[in-house]
Amino acid sequence: MQLRPVNCAGTLFLALLLFVSGTTIDAHNITRILAKHPEFSTFNHYLTLTHLAPEINGKTTITVCAVDNAAMNELLSKHLSIYTIKNILSLHVLLDYFGAKKLHQITNGTALAATMFQATGTAPGSAGFVNITDLRGGKVGFGAENNGGTLSAHFVKSVEEIPYNISVIQISNVLPSDAAEAPTPAPSQQNITAIMSKHGCKVFADTLLANEAESTYMDNLDGGLTVFCPMDDVFKAFLPKYKNLTAAGKTALLLYHGVPVYQSLSMLKSNNGLQNTLATDGASKYDLTVQNDGEEVTLKTKVDTAKITGTLIDEQPLAIYTVNKVLLPPELFKAEAPTPSPAPAPEPAADAPAAPKSKKKKAAPAPEDSDAPADSPDNAADQTADDNGAVRFDGARYISFIVALVFGFLLV
Ligand SMILES: *[C@@H]1O[C@H](CO)[C@@H](O)[C@H](O)[C@H]1NC(C)=O
Ligand SMILES: *[C@@H]1O[C@H](CO)[C@@H](O)[C@H](O)[C@H]1NC(C)=O
Ligand SMILES: *[C@@H]1O[C@H](CO)[C@@H](O)[C@H](O)[C@H]1NC(C)=O
Ligand SMILES: *[C@@H]1O[C@H](CO)[C@@H](O)[C@H](O)[C@H]1NC(C)=O
Ligand SMILES: *[C@@H]1O[C@H](CO)[C@@H](O)[C@H](O)[C@H]1NC(C)=O
Ligand SMILES: *[C@@H]1O[C@H](CO)[C@@H](O)[C@H](O)[C@H]1NC(C)=O
Repeated sequence: MQLRPVNCAGTLFLALLLFVSGTTIDAHNITRILAKHPEFSTFNHYLTLTHLAPEINGKTTITVCAVDNAAMNELLSKHLSIYTIKNILSLHVLLDYFGAKKLHQITNGTALAATMFQATGTAPGSAGFVNITDLRGGKVGFGAENNGGTLSAHFVKSVEEIPYNISVIQISNVLPSDAAEAPTPAPSQQNITAIMSKHGCKVFADTLLANEAESTYMDNLDGGLTVFCPMDDVFKAFLPKYKNLTAAGKTALLLYHGVPVYQSLSMLKSNNGLQNTLATDGASKYDLTVQNDGEEVTLKTKVDTAKITGTLIDEQPLAIYTVNKVLLPPELFKAEAPTPSPAPAPEPAADAPAAPKSKKKKAAPAPEDSDAPADSPDNAADQTADDNGAVRFDGARYISFIVALVFGFLLV
């Protein structure tokens, strides 16, 4: 009887602990911080509307330059689209920690801070940087870097500092920036294949353009779309295998590289787990697992694991990332067998001894064909993808090659 309340308290404590540890994935909550200060309610509201708030919460060593409601009203009177407002506000999020003390003690009196606008990949030249300069009389000036050297705003006060995770400061007004204020095309006007082509994913983009999958991508633009596009060298090496797929297989493979939801990088980092793709259709799962390892985000299919290597565009509701491997759905490709079984009728596979195969031959000069890992052409192409990817995979393969060599030597 006596124990019950104790138990209750214990359970409550545990629940609280779980709750707290569950929420520390985001070390801070900008919405909650600003909610304590009604003079920033408009700024706060727009951080939520533009989905910048979760982006901010997912980052540490960051400074948010907030402006008061009067300054926000001035911005809103320009009747800009929400996408343009997002660019402007992202220019007010500095990717470094500037507390009041550091602001007044900048080395050499001036510094350029990269911003979230820079990180979207849409800021031309140095437009994504903010110039911070210590001025006479203890003033600190702020200006968008490509704004002709004009320091158009100044530091007002520190709002909240959690060293060195997040510093929220007030600046006098919105930083004018022609680049950030440039009309941002609505997502339905974005040409995703053009974006990919311009940034090292032309082979994938051209393949997509030649396939009916392209219209599915376009149909999902407005509702939210995340694309994982393999870099040119990777997709080029994969083309022989692609060409061997059936028409339906080709479309499914291309659709497998899109997710019908917008996800920023920090959303991907904090939303690990299974995700459906554009290829998902009832019983045909075509799903993949998103998993982050620190700052790295990986995409695991049951066949291979790709890594996100870059951001081509991240503007709600469209995100396009580059990946270092072609995502191979288990519905189309066999997983690498853990134990080599005698050639289980190879899947759609590379034909002629193309580049992938010869490369592989060089890397592993047959340490007694018996335990050469079931050399289905599938494996060959997969491993070529590895060649273009993470260094540690190469290292692992190198080590196993040495081991195999030594083992082979001992047998002789
Ligand atoms: C800062 O962030 C780190 C990592 O998210 C966290 O472990 C730490 O507790 C945070 N510090 C404070 C003062 O909140
Ligand atoms: C942040 O705080 C706001 C307001 O308190 C809350 O609605 C929101 O769910 C919080 N977000 C996270 C990620 O905890
Ligand atoms: C400060 O100025 C000196 C001399 O001009 C220069 O060598 C140094 O790199 C500067 N430091 C920073 C942090 O800009
Ligand atoms: C920042 O702007 C000021 C004023 O235009 C200029 O003197 C200074 O060199 C700039 N700082 C940097 C780091 O570019
Ligand atoms: C998008 O750009 C590509 C070139 O990358 C072009 O072939 C295609 O027609 C464009 N699509 C639209 C809808 O403008
Ligand atoms: C395609 O895959 C089949 C097995 O599914 C294989 O026999 C053939 O060599 C591959 N290449 C071509 C060009 O058909």
